[in-house]
Parts: sequence; structure tokens; C-alpha cells
Amino acid sequence: MALKSFVLIIAILSVVTSISHASDPSPLQDFCVAVNDSMTTVFVNGKVCKDPKIVTADDFFKSGLNVAGNTSNNVGSAVTAVNVNNLPGLNTLGISLARIDYAPYGVNPPHTHPRGTEVLTVLEGTLYVGFVLSNPGANMKNKLFTKILHPGDVFVFPIGLIHFQFNVGKTKAVAFAGFNSQNQGVITIANAVFGSDPPINDDILAKAFQVDKKVVDYLQSQFWWDNN
Ligand SMILES: *[C@@H]1O[C@H](CO)[C@@H](O)[C@H](O)[C@H]1NC(C)=O
Ligand SMILES: *[C@@H]1O[C@H](CO)[C@@H](O)[C@H](O)[C@H]1NC(C)=O
Repeated sequence: MALKSFVLIIAILSVVTSISHASDPSPLQDFCVAVNDSMTTVFVNGKVCKDPKIVTADDFFKSGLNVAGNTSNNVGSAVTAVNVNNLPGLNTLGISLARIDYAPYGVNPPHTHPRGTEVLTVLEGTLYVGFVLSNPGANMKNKLFTKILHPGDVFVFPIGLIHFQFNVGKTKAVAFAGFNSQNQGVITIANAVFGSDPPINDDILAKAFQVDKKVVDYLQSQFWWDNN
């Protein structure tokens, strides 16, 4: 291939990848504090900006992340998210945070964040964490990456990939996570697949999971706790 056409292809590819970028777009002004639009009838991609003249420091502030989440639930974990929905100053800034508490042997069940990469650090306890690659990447088919994390350790879960954290210790655990999205979203796999409303047709799930329909019916009859 001629050098010229190679350079052209690279240039086109870089434009295409920047357009189809999966993380949040960059801001076009200092800030765009979200209006509290719980009563709105107009919806945009993101949130509408509050009049900058009435913005105050409190629009960029939230307290309470020193308080542990309630982990007395089926999965033994609780996520306390700080995102654009409860900290309006995060609007358009492409960043957010969460505190995650784990009871002994509690799990943050397999889930994905459709709009954000997650970087997690452990403050207390010991976590077994992991993520799974997407379908066949050459000979890396659904490869699982795992790690045991101790206080001070940091681990990254790439955007969109299914991941989990499990407290392997006899004591509670605490972690904080950052996301490159103002609203990373969460899809808990079991909840979405077996707890959808209305339920997904059980013939479909029986065939997809290659199990008897009774197994699917059993799973669909369970209560799927949302720890977020
Ligand atoms: C934690 O959640 C459980 C189950 O919902 C509830 O019974 C309990 O009162 C909660 N504890 C606190 C401290 O809020
Ligand atoms: C937005 O307004 C609703 C209803 O008045 C309130 O419950 C909620 O806490 C507000 N959200 C924020 C981020 O201020």
C-alpha cells in the first residue's frame, strides 16, 4: 500500500473513532450544572444547564460518602453512587464516583456499565475481582481476568465488560470507584436477564442458556435484588 493511502486510512479511522467515542463528550463551557428537571416534559441527551448566574458552590457539593451502605440484602453489598442524578455539577464533566460496601462474603454481582470505565480502589478488606472479555477476540474467547485486592490496591474494569467484586474476607470491605461518565449506568446481568419486566419468554432463555425451561422458570421466579 502506498504511504499516502495508508496515512489517509489512519486519518479517517481516527476521525471515525473520535465520533463513535463511547465515553461522555467534553464540555463546551466551564460548567453546565444540571437543572433539577424532575418535572420536565422535554428530554435531551444529558441534562439541561441551570442559569450560570444562579449556580452556587452547593451545586458542586455532596456529603455523606463517609456513611456505609446497608449490606443486609440478598447479595451482601450496597453501592452508593454519586453521579449527575444527585450531584448536578457533574453534568457534562464525564466523571462520577461510587462507594461500595460489602458484608463478609458479600458480592457485587456480575454487571456492566454501558457508558463508563471503572477504576476501583480498596480501602478496607479483601476483594476477589474480575472481568470477562467480549465474545471471540481471536483466540481470547471470553477470557476471565481476576485479581485479589487488598487495601490500597487499584483495579480497572474496562467500559462495557461484565465484572464483579466478591468479599473473600471474614470482615466487611469498603471500596471506592471512579467512572469516566457523569452517569455510567449499570446492567446487573441476572436482574436484566431473569428479572426483566415483563419477563423474557422462557422458551428463548431455555434455548439461549441450554437448560430445561423449569430451570429458567425457577430463576425467573426469584427476587433479584438491585444493590445500586
Ligand atoms: C438495612 O436493610 C434491612 C433490610 O431492608 C432493614 O431491615 C434494616 O433496617 C436496614 N438497616 C439500616 C441500619 O437501615
Ligand atoms: C430534585 O427535585 C426532587 C423533587 O423536588 C427532589 O426529590 C430531589 O432530591 C431533587 N434532586 C436534586 C439532585 O436536588
